[in-house]
Amino acid sequence: MGIFQEQLLEGKIILVTGGGTGLGLAMGSRFLELGAKLAICGRREEILRQAAAGLEKRNGSPVFYKTCDVRDPEQVRELVEAVERHYGGVDVLVNNAAGNFISPTERLSPRAVDAVLGIVLHGTFYMTLEVGKRWVEQKRKGVMLNIVTTYALTGSGYVAPSAAAKAGVLALTRSLAVEWAPYGIRQAAIAPGVFPTEGAGSRLSPTPELEAKMMARLPLGRTGSPGELADLAAFLVSDAAAYINGEVITVDGAEWLRGAGQFNDLAELSREEWDRLTELTRKGK
Ligand code: HXC
Ligand code: NAP
Repeated sequence: MGIFQEQLLEGKIILVTGGGTGLGLAMGSRFLELGAKLAICGRREEILRQAAAGLEKRNGSPVFYKTCDVRDPEQVRELVEAVERHYGGVDVLVNNAAGNFISPTERLSPRAVDAVLGIVLHGTFYMTLEVGKRWVEQKRKGVMLNIVTTYALTGSGYVAPSAAAKAGVLALTRSLAVEWAPYGIRQAAIAPGVFPTEGAGSRLSPTPELEAKMMARLPLGRTGSPGELADLAAFLVSDAAAYINGEVITVDGAEWLRGAGQFNDLAELSREEWDRLTELTRKGK
């Protein structure tokens, strides 16, 4: 069911990093449906080519793609230049590219830390700088949407580099919301909970046991669907969200709150156990 006016993003030029797979691909697809012109990047050319072909087949609009490692400022410059040449500018930047894997922190090498911080924090910052400087110079208004995580706010063991990097991206979002508002540049972030994608699944819950553990934490009993995230993204980058600036919107079915509430594990108790407990707690009055 489409919830938006058909041409909500008509003519907007949107660049999605990591747009060839997973949630980046789902967002790109929704943007196209709503009339946007789409550019995607990632490190693997064949993945991008296939993604662009699939999107074009589904939506009828061609998609611009170019390989780019967001950890390299020179490649970032070449990417943004190429998108500007192709479409005549950029209106929306979606910083979606990420790297992550579970590991006890004491097992990480400095290179492993750099791999994640490089993609998530430095890559996002380089993209933001490259696009932002151009917008300021061109007096062009724009929107930046950063995809973070719920543990950007809470931290999380076993994904410490990702947590640190995403927290940094959130701080960047909030910093620039104020600093660049006078230029007409708006910032927003999405904190997704669990959305099944090949990239996340293979690195974060690579066994059926870990996947089952993850599922057991979900209050709604299901993961998010990429379309649900894409709808939120479409709203946030559209003019309908013009007064939302510097906010992070969580879309996780209350998964992080499930971990935060001290008594939430009592959901496991049976009716009989509750009958017994009620007797005991009444006695305590
Ligand atoms: C420990 C690891 C490791 C692992 C790599 N390394 N994987 N260490 N455990 N599982 C170490 C390597 O040994 C090496 O260090 C260093 O990290 C760099 O590894 P490379 O393979 O050379 O890195 P690179 O090719 O740059 O790949 C980056 C990557 C990879 C992050 C390691 O996983 C990747 O390309 N990821 C991109 C896609 C992705 O991660 N998607 C998931 C996003 S999901 P040494 O010292 O040995 O040389 C997400 C969801 C969050 O963010 C929330 C979920 C609920
Ligand atoms: P994904 O499919 O693995 O997406 C990551 C994308 O980033 C890939 O297309 C990858 O392409 C690209 N990328 C990685 N390193 C890059 C680099 N150095 N330069 C350019 N592109 C790079 O995983 P996903 O689940 O869709 O994740 C998308 C976003 O959602 C990420 O920001 C992630 O942290 C966030 N998120 C996801 C979940 C979830 O449950 N899925 C939950 C919370 C947050 P290449 O490998 O070809 O470069």
